[in-house]
Amino acid sequence: MRKKITVVGAGNVGATLAQRVAERNYADVVLVDIIEGLPQGKALDILEAGPVIGYDSHVVGTNSYEETSDSDIVVITSGIARKPGMSRDDLVRTNQKIVTSVTEQVISASPNAILIPVTNPLDAMAQLVFKVSKLPRERVFGMAGVLDTARFRTFIAQELNVSVRDVQAYVLGGHGDTMIPLTRMTTVGGVPVAQLIAEPRLSEIVQRTRDGGAEIVNLLKSGSAYYAPSASVLDMIDAIMYDQQRILPASVYLTGEYGIHNLFVGVPVKMGANGITQVIELDLSDSERVALHHSADAVKELIEVMGI
Ligand code: APR
Repeated sequence: MRKKITVVGAGNVGATLAQRVAERNYADVVLVDIIEGLPQGKALDILEAGPVIGYDSHVVGTNSYEETSDSDIVVITSGIARKPGMSRDDLVRTNQKIVTSVTEQVISASPNAILIPVTNPLDAMAQLVFKVSKLPRERVFGMAGVLDTARFRTFIAQELNVSVRDVQAYVLGGHGDTMIPLTRMTTVGGVPVAQLIAEPRLSEIVQRTRDGGAEIVNLLKSGSAYYAPSASVLDMIDAIMYDQQRILPASVYLTGEYGIHNLFVGVPVKMGANGITQVIELDLSDSERVALHHSADAVKELIEVMGI
C-alpha cells in the first residue's frame, strides 16, 4: 500500500513541503487548511506538475480530516504569524488553540502516525502536540534544528568558499534567540571550524545563524522563510521513509538527558522508520551546558504561558 503523508497548513511552508514530498514519489500527499479552496487549489496545481516533472504521487487538498485517515506522517504547519502589536504571549495562545484543535483531529484520524510540528514557537508547539496526541515521544518531534544547522552550514561554506556538503555542524537548544550553534563540534572536511575561521568572525556567523529567521523576515517584509524550512522537514521525512537512522537535530521531549526534564528542546537524535530510536547525549563543556539550560528555560516560560 502506498504511504500517506499529510501536511496541515497550506500556506508557504505547507504547500512548498507538499510539492517537495510529491516530487519524491514515495507517498501520496494530503494538504489540509481551514481556508476553503486553498488546499484544493494548491494540491491540484501540484498534481498537474506530475506529468511534467515525472511523479505519480496522488495529491489532494481538503478542509476536513477524512482523507488524512491512516497517514504515516503528519506535518503540522498551521498557525498564524506574529502581527504588529501582538505580544509573544498572545501569539503563543493563538497558535495553541489552532495546534490543539488540529492535533486532536489529526490523531483521531491517524492514531499510528509520526507527527512533526513546525508551527512556531516551535519547541512549545511540539510539547503541545505531544501532550494533546498522547503519543510516545519517539513519534512526536519538531523541526527546527535541521533548519538552524542548514543556515549555519550555509554561512560557513560561504565564508570559506567550500561546498556545503563538507561542512558538518550542530545547533542545539530551543528554536529562537537562545539557540546554540556548537562551534566546538563543527568541522569543515574534518577540520575544526575554529582553526579555519578566526574570532570575531566566527561569532558573527554564529549570531547571523541565530538571527537567520529574522533576516529573511526583514527582507521579505511580509511572511517568513519557507524554502529552507520545507527542505529541512523533507530531510526528516526522508530519514523516516528510507529508515536511514540519520543523526539529525530535532526538538524532542527530554526525560533527564542533558539534565533537562519533561521539556522539548533541540538535541541530536537518531531517526528512522519508527521515529526517534535514540536521543544522543553530546559531551558538552560547562559553558555549552549553561547555554543549553538557558535555552531550555526560555522554552519553559512559553509552556507556562500555555498552562500545559
Ligand atoms: N487548521 C488548518 N489550517 C490552519 C488553521 C487551522 N485551524 N489555522 C490556520 N491555518 C492555516 C492558514 O490558513 C495558513 O494557510 O495555516 C497556514 C499558515 O500558512 P502561512 O501563514 O503561509 O505560514 P507559513 O509561512 O507557512 O508558516 C507556517 O511554520 O515556520 C513556521 O513560523 C512559521 O508558525 C509558522 C508556520
